[in-house]
Order: sequence, then C-alpha cells, then structure tokens
Amino acid sequence: MGRVSFRLLLAGFLLPAFVSVTIGAASSAEIPVPTDPVAKLAFDVLDKHCSRCHQDGKLTKRQTPAKNFGNVLKLEELASNASMIQPGNPYGSKLFKQIVDKEMPYDVIYEGASVPGPSEADVKALETWIQSLGTSKVAGCTARPFVGNKDIVNLIAADLENRSSAPRGRAI
Ligand code: HEC
Repeated sequence: MGRVSFRLLLAGFLLPAFVSVTIGAASSAEIPVPTDPVAKLAFDVLDKHCSRCHQDGKLTKRQTPAKNFGNVLKLEELASNASMIQPGNPYGSKLFKQIVDKEMPYDVIYEGASVPGPSEADVKALETWIQSLGTSKVAGCTARPFVGNKDIVNLIAADLENRSSAPRGRAI
C-alpha cells in the first residue's frame, strides 16, 4: 500500500471519530446550569432522575433519548414548550404529571431499577419551579385592576348622575 493511500485511509478512520468526539463534547458542554436558585433545584432533580434517558450528551445505556425527548435539562426550552410545561400550572404540565402519576422515571416505575425515584422534596422542587414560571405573567395581569360588571354599572350610574346635574340645554 502506498504512503498516500495509507494516509487517506487513516484520515478516513480518524476524522469521523474526531468529529463525533468533538460533537459529543460540545453537546454536553452546551447545557447551561441555571443561576436562579429555584431553577437550579429543579435542574438537579431532572439531572438526577431523568437525564439518563432524556438528555442528549448524558444518556446512559442508550444511544437516543427515550421517546425522542432529549432536552430535559434545557430548562428554558422546556419552559417555552407548552406540551411539556404550562408556566404557573404544575398539574397542567405533562413533564410534572408524568412524575406524580407514577409514569416516570420509566426504569424505576416499570423495570424495578434499583435506583431511588424522586423524593417528595424533589417533586416539590419541580412544582415550585413550574409555579415560579407563572408569577411574572400573573403579576402582569394583576397590575391592571379587574373591571367587573359592578364597576361598569357604577361608572354608568356616576356618569348619568353627572349629566342630570348639568344645566339643561348645555351640550356636554
Ligand atoms: C430509563 C429511562 C427513562 C427515565 C429515567 C425517564 N424516562 Fe421518561 N420516558 C421513557 C420512555 C421509554 C418513554 C416513552 C414511554 C411511553 O411512550 O410509554 C418516556 C416518556 C416520557 C415523557 C413523554 C414524552 C412525550 O413526548 O410524550 C415525558 C414527559 C417523560 N418521559 C418525562 C420524564 C421525566 C420527567 C423523568 C424524570 C423524572 C423521566 N421521564 C425519566 C424513559 C425514561
């Protein structure tokens, strides 16, 4: 075998290996750890109980994420994905429901895996995080006073009162 073809052969083997190692390293390095303490607690719970099957770059015993759900540690992506998280509404959030309904972690629930499942404190941490996602929106709504039927009737009554006390014939 000539020198050149041997080099080509070497490159043919090494290059894909190198590329896949770099891509693998990049994908796990991309997972940002939240700085917000509430989000960080949720992150730790998801990392401990879910990332082994649902986070690209952290999968164990599997090549692809279960059910093609591979971003369980990307909290911002989850929070903006209504099919996983309903901000402010833990029990309306699929991700949370899967845990409280005892569907997940799959291996613990269905395969008798000898790893501990989420504790009460773990569940509470997730619940608190999902609730916290809703507070900014709720605050946005409550900042404006709610105008009910009674308020509207009162406004109309007050207006009529003003009009009837205005001198007749004067255009208002
Ligand atoms: C041992 C692997 C494993 C672990 C650990 C695991 N899951 Fe799963 N998960 C699965 C499998 C398998 C499915 C598909 C189940 C099915 O379709 O019946 C799934 C499905 C899901 C789904 C539905 C996804 C969709 O698109 O419908 C959610 C949400 C989910 N898991 C959340 C979690 C959460 C949260 C945790 C951690 C508390 C967790 N999983 C831990 C294997 C796992």
